[in-house]
Amino acid sequence: MSRLAHKIAIVTGAASEPGLGSSIARRFAEEGAVVYCTDMDEAGAAKVAESINSDGGTAIALKHDVADAKDWEKVIAKVTNDHGAPDILVNNAGIAVLHLIEDLTNEGWDKQLRVNLDSVFYGTRGAVAAMREAGKPGSIINISSVGGIVGVPTCTAYSATKGGVRLMSKSVAIECAAQNIRVNTIHPGMIDTNMQAEAKKNPDIFDAVVGAVPMQRLGEPVDIANACLFLASDESRYVTGAELVVDGGMTAH
Ligand SMILES: NC(=O)c1ccc[n+]([C@@H]2O[C@H](COP(=O)([O-])OP(=O)(O)OC[C@H]3O[C@@H](n4cnc5c(N)ncnc54)[C@H](O)[C@@H]3O)[C@@H](O)[C@H]2O)c1
Repeated sequence: MSRLAHKIAIVTGAASEPGLGSSIARRFAEEGAVVYCTDMDEAGAAKVAESINSDGGTAIALKHDVADAKDWEKVIAKVTNDHGAPDILVNNAGIAVLHLIEDLTNEGWDKQLRVNLDSVFYGTRGAVAAMREAGKPGSIINISSVGGIVGVPTCTAYSATKGGVRLMSKSVAIECAAQNIRVNTIHPGMIDTNMQAEAKKNPDIFDAVVGAVPMQRLGEPVDIANACLFLASDESRYVTGAELVVDGGMTAH
């Protein structure tokens, strides 16, 4: 399969297994992309890249703290030196700082914003600059959440970042549309990754939340990877500033 033949992709937060980033990286590699798997978990990213390479794909692991603007400069410079400029960036790395509002500390708020929102700004800015400099079209996919569309208890800080990602992406999409640099968001519902491990520790609440999903089940990482593949490929060439919800019907109510 070659829906991404000759494309160079960066996927952040690619170490977690099961995780969205590793699934996106694998799916992109299966479709012919060269994939830079970045994560602050260097060993985890290396393991994912090795498994992609041993399956016949092409992946390179990079240590990368997405909350660090200087790390972003290094990652974009490395990819640009190797290949001209990235064609695809998936801003996927993220954390969930979940507290009732009166328990949310300044430190928790700041950390949530740095990892989930500052990161997407740094990455999008760097990728757009590199794409423009190289005169290349491109696709930037920012992973938001259903929490970026509707309110969820304990998600005050998380929702602030994911809603911010949603509208930041639309503004950049308009700025860059004439150069065919497309910017879109994906809004996963509940997907069965390591991020859900904490939630599973309260099985009664967890089962009730899953039971309220119209499809009555969690999504799998590949469900998000396939949506990313569409937005990364030229099949979505007229799609920019869009938000693609992949949530088993959660927000259809
Ligand atoms: N799983 C879900 O149900 C769900 C739902 C909606 C949105 N999302 C979003 O999808 C994205 C991926 O989530 P996931 O479920 O795969 O989570 P995960 O916890 O399984 O994986 C997250 C990855 O991000 C990395 N990471 C964390 N902080 C980082 C930093 N500062 N720099 C670099 N890497 C860092 C972690 O090391 C890990 O590999 C996140 O943005 C998350 O908010 C997930």
